[in-house]
Amino acid sequence: MRRLVRETRWSVSDLILPMFVQEGLHNKEEIESMPGVFHYGLDEFRRAVGEVSKAGIPGILLFGVPEHKDDLCSTAYHEHGIVQEAVRAAKQENPELLVMTDVCLCQYNPTGHCGLVRDGIVLNDESLILLAKTAVSHAQAGADVVAPSDMMDGRVAAIRQALDVSEYQDVVLLSYAVKYASAFYGPFREAAHSAPSFGDRRSYQMDSANIREALREAASDIEEGADMLMVKPALAYLDVTRAVKESFDIPVATYNVSGEYSMVKAAASKGWIDERKIVEEMLTGFKRAGADFVFTYHALEAAYWDHN
Ligand code: PBG
Repeated sequence: MRRLVRETRWSVSDLILPMFVQEGLHNKEEIESMPGVFHYGLDEFRRAVGEVSKAGIPGILLFGVPEHKDDLCSTAYHEHGIVQEAVRAAKQENPELLVMTDVCLCQYNPTGHCGLVRDGIVLNDESLILLAKTAVSHAQAGADVVAPSDMMDGRVAAIRQALDVSEYQDVVLLSYAVKYASAFYGPFREAAHSAPSFGDRRSYQMDSANIREALREAASDIEEGADMLMVKPALAYLDVTRAVKESFDIPVATYNVSGEYSMVKAAASKGWIDERKIVEEMLTGFKRAGADFVFTYHALEAAYWDHN
């Protein structure tokens, strides 16, 4: 009876797995604060893509950890950068897998900020050129979806325009439109080696108290050409996902971020919670709030629990 009258369902078709590829790594290394999540060298990454495909997960989101960082973030848009190589490897392994790439500069420059920095200031407009170059290089490698997470103003328009003039009109732009400055990203910064070396991200990421601003960010990104939107983090922002869903008619995703994952793993490892039930309840909550799909590090395990 409960199955028949259930109002919300999630399935493996709703899940995207974020993955970290590391340049120069030969094997894979588990990320300490995120048990079950790995830095992959390219060969291991190929193998993992096979596993993801077998589990029926529709897509992945790629983050790169480069060997070299410089002020101009040159490894972010290099033809043979780690993300570009990983996109090619994933497509070779499974051309049907949807390959999304995170577009940002924070892993690629020594300051750890999401844009170019001069004299301690993040330069919004000058960053746009590099972000657009990065997105085009991902498209060139074969990415289906580019997902800017930097939060510079105007980056959706800059990226869309650069893709279009480079003949990548069919590449989809998923904007991290509503990205809050959040302590829930803590473990990710260890994973991506991208913690800011000074200050914080509050000059470009949003204040967690604001929801009208979220709708303004979403509206301007749609105006600039975003095809899909993201709300991030997920758990503490379900009302924002609901509001975005009701206000706009393009797909909306939510990102169940690193800190949310680590909290579940830590408590489960102590036997304090039932991991599977907790994750299933969270996924149901994301869908009930209106998310069309979910970025989650739990994707591989959850794919096998899909029983709805
Ligand atoms: C980088 C980026 C971050 C995340 C995705 N892209 C970190 C940040 O903005 O500090 C967070 C992902 C997670 O915590 O799982 N711009």
